[in-house]
Amino acid sequence: MGWSLRTIADLSDSEFAAWSQLLEERAGIQLAPMQKSLLQSQLSIRMRELGYDSYNEYYSLVTDGLQGRLEWSILIDRVAVKETSFFRHRASFEYVRRYLQDKINNRQLSESFDLWSVGCSTGEEPYSLAMVVNDCFELAQLEPYYGVTALDISSTALAKGRLGRYLPRALEQMTAEEAKRYTQVCNDGSYEIARKLRDRVCFTHGNVMQIGDMPKVEMDVIFCQNLLVYFRRWLRRDILNSLVERIKPGGLLVIGLGESADWDHPQMKRVNNETVQAYIRQEHKKQ
Ligand SMILES: C[S@@+](CC[C@H](N)C(=O)[O-])C[C@H]1O[C@@H](n2cnc3c(N)ncnc32)[C@H](O)[C@@H]1O
Repeated sequence: MGWSLRTIADLSDSEFAAWSQLLEERAGIQLAPMQKSLLQSQLSIRMRELGYDSYNEYYSLVTDGLQGRLEWSILIDRVAVKETSFFRHRASFEYVRRYLQDKINNRQLSESFDLWSVGCSTGEEPYSLAMVVNDCFELAQLEPYYGVTALDISSTALAKGRLGRYLPRALEQMTAEEAKRYTQVCNDGSYEIARKLRDRVCFTHGNVMQIGDMPKVEMDVIFCQNLLVYFRRWLRRDILNSLVERIKPGGLLVIGLGESADWDHPQMKRVNNETVQAYIRQEHKKQ
């Protein structure tokens, strides 16, 4: 089959229900009925590329065997909302800055400082975290190891993040000082993130729904904004509970303000700051 100009019929309600169920089961993403036309347009663009005109046939392709897995990764790339920006919700990043500065001042740093950006999209979030951490360590004239693991389900978003090049407009959310210190202009007018930050950010493909199967590496900071908002309440809670197991005692979890307002966990204490939704993992109880 090849690229086709044939008109593709509208997605019926039952087809929409089947595709929504697949997206939710595999990626957690819950579609509202008003997103039907958006899904239809993404599906039909892809179906035209492949020469399909039946949603059901394309569904069989996506759900069948190895080729189906490849096709799924292309489709999820198209469907996932990847909107992001540098320092999106600045207060959350400033909270990480204060948290790290306190650790430095109180000499509470361990050998390495590890951060995890969960649902990192095209890299603006993990690079913003790396800027904050680099600021703190440079100010304190310290050179400990630090690293940001950046996880996303979208391969194209991760590829953009790895490239680390952004249009001038994307830099508007940085201060002039941040842009000067951490980016350099390229021949094509885009801006490249400084090598010293790119070396600290490791982009990894993964699905937050399978977090329980991922290695239990403990992090100092887990940052997860504007991802859980697409998931059902029970799933948000399950994912947050799994994240807790991957935070060092005394470590910090930052989520989007209001994204899971009713979540609590016996090991996590919400910080006393209304501008952020952040939690500290309580130290292990002595036996
Ligand atoms: C709206 S963006 C938010 C990006 C960034 N965290 C921010 O706040 O600007 C949501 C990101 O989550 C990713 N995503 C969606 N479902 C996911 C899943 N099940 N596992 C991992 N990443 C997922 C999307 O690909 C997208 O890049």
